[in-house]
Amino acid sequence: MALTGLENNDLKLIIFGGKGGVGKTSCAVATAQALSENFKTLLISTDPAHSISDCLEQPIGFNVVKMTGYPNLSAIEVVADQALSRFIAENLAELKKLLDTSTNLDTQDIEEMLSLSIPGIDEVMSFKTIIDFIEEGWYDKYVVDTAPTGHALRLISSPKLLDEWIKVAARMRWKYRYMITSFAGTYEQDSVDTFLLNLKKMVKRIENILRDNTKCEFIPVCIPESMAITETARLLAELGLSGIIPKQIIVNNVMSSEGCDFCIRRKASQRPHLAEIHQIFSDLHETEVPVFAEEIKGREALLQLKIFLFGGPDLVRMTREFMHV
Ligand SMILES: Nc1ncnc2c1ncn2[C@@H]1O[C@H](COP(=O)(O)OP(=O)(O)OP(=O)(O)O)[C@@H](O)[C@H]1O
Ligand SMILES: [Mg+2]
Repeated sequence: MALTGLENNDLKLIIFGGKGGVGKTSCAVATAQALSENFKTLLISTDPAHSISDCLEQPIGFNVVKMTGYPNLSAIEVVADQALSRFIAENLAELKKLLDTSTNLDTQDIEEMLSLSIPGIDEVMSFKTIIDFIEEGWYDKYVVDTAPTGHALRLISSPKLLDEWIKVAARMRWKYRYMITSFAGTYEQDSVDTFLLNLKKMVKRIENILRDNTKCEFIPVCIPESMAITETARLLAELGLSGIIPKQIIVNNVMSSEGCDFCIRRKASQRPHLAEIHQIFSDLHETEVPVFAEEIKGREALLQLKIFLFGGPDLVRMTREFMHV
């Protein structure tokens, strides 16, 4: 079976996740390439060890680049530290004022605090970057390649983390507000309050997009091996806790049933795992991708992968070729 529903106009954000090395990047890139045939598409890598540029064989960085040879496809590799530096630079006055009015820190302490890296902030900033793109509305589809499971989960839970931070900041502000009101009798909302309010609105917008399964879809990628299955099950359970329920799964690296002795034995070893995948993930629409002879890199290989992911008139012939059936 092939991936379904990705061409629905309402669906904006498609996130690929899974265990390390199962084919997330290959599937994300081939999907972005396929969608770009009909939609203006932005491929976004949030994996600190970016590999979409290797897969597409074109340089990409932390700026949107148009992909040569794909008229409607652009790509960007989000660099979390740089995203954080940009955020701090854009909001420096408010951040300094927040710390200055709500803590006993002196100017030097504040400078030091703003230069510290806060745990989890990179995922928050990566997600903020994605949401900023969606809100600008330049593209029809945003396809996200993530780093292995833990990172994708932190990315998904980043709005919660940011929300916690805003709550602490708002409490600190409340004390300041109370003090000003006690002395001056009144309190006028200032730029820090507006900054916090805007952040809070952003968190809400991120959560709304993530939980709306008409706008956002998370596609787990798995391979027929026990550790990958266990990790995918854990990923799905944790996604469920954040209100994200995937509809489909990609099962990659499926061996052909015939060929050399090695292929036959590998296929035999995959069979129970494939059965387990059908059973455990029976709620999910399944798309199988065979193991390719070579790594998936460059236009031709990506076009072949696209056929396995999206189906089409060549699928039967390609399946015969790849699976010797
Ligand atoms: N079906 C396949 N057949 C052959 N090689 C494949 C297949 N799928 C992926 N590969 C290759 O396996 C390697 C890992 O794939 P990929 O980079 O897409 O995985 P990943 O899940 O993104 O890995 P990571 O967790 O390191 O980001 C790559 O060299 C890729 O070309
Ligand atoms: Mg990858």
